[in-house]
Amino acid sequence: MTLSVSNLTVHHGAICAINQVSIDVPAGKLAAIIGSNGAGKTTLLRTISGLKNPTRGDITWNGQSISRIKPEMLVRRGISHVSEGKSVVPELSVRENLELGAIWRGNKKEAKESINQVITIFPRLGERIEQRADTLSGGERQMLAIGRAIMAKPQLLLLDEPSLGLAPLVVEQIFQTIRQLATSMNLTVLLVEQNAMGALKIADLGIVLNLGKVVAVNHAQALIDDPAVRTAYLGY
Ligand SMILES: Nc1ncnc2c1ncn2[C@@H]1O[C@H](COP(=O)(O)OP(=O)(O)OP(=O)(O)O)[C@@H](O)[C@H]1O
Ligand SMILES: [Mg+2]
Repeated sequence: MTLSVSNLTVHHGAICAINQVSIDVPAGKLAAIIGSNGAGKTTLLRTISGLKNPTRGDITWNGQSISRIKPEMLVRRGISHVSEGKSVVPELSVRENLELGAIWRGNKKEAKESINQVITIFPRLGERIEQRADTLSGGERQMLAIGRAIMAKPQLLLLDEPSLGLAPLVVEQIFQTIRQLATSMNLTVLLVEQNAMGALKIADLGIVLNLGKVVAVNHAQALIDDPAVRTAYLGY
């Protein structure tokens, strides 16, 4: 199941945030999208998950156009989005937040199995299952946001800055978990990150965005080895 973005242009009012972008992510591959602040990374993810309408261009998933489909319908087609910042309900418990992720499936038994699966991936969440989400640490909240996305049994996972604000050790752990998830669930993943090195290290391919345009696409390791990418995005 390939994700294909072709000639996509997206505006915020007069601002052109995504400018004629074309990207192909083959099934089961993890693609890292890197780029400076304001490059259009969040806009691209929000457009793929149906939260933002494109001005022009098309997005296909499994060969079918999804560019005019509402987010709640896209979840049913296997697309889960973990947005930038807090994507959990603070007043609800860890368990309730996880259950929300599976709500449209309407199958209590399946939801229970999925909760067990999430707890296996993130044991910390199991220890805090009845605790309110607003009492979790930043890292635990990020685990919960990813866990909730997994509850929907996605085939395509869109992650916006999962490492934001986390301590280096937790960042490393989150990246490793994302890699393992992608492999074990055969997920196609779009991973947007400011932590370009961390993301490229676990990715199959890398996409560099600058001012709304794709400026480089390559195997992740090739981008790491590219002197221009190193200087501009990896800081050495
Ligand atoms: N709701 C909005 N209204 C107006 N302009 C917006 C809106 N959202 C984003 N933009 C603009 O679109 C451009 C792309 O923003 P976007 O959030 O996609 O960038 P980003 O690559 O995710 O940046 P960051 O790394 O800071 O999260 C920016 O210039 C931003 O100011
Ligand atoms: Mg962003």
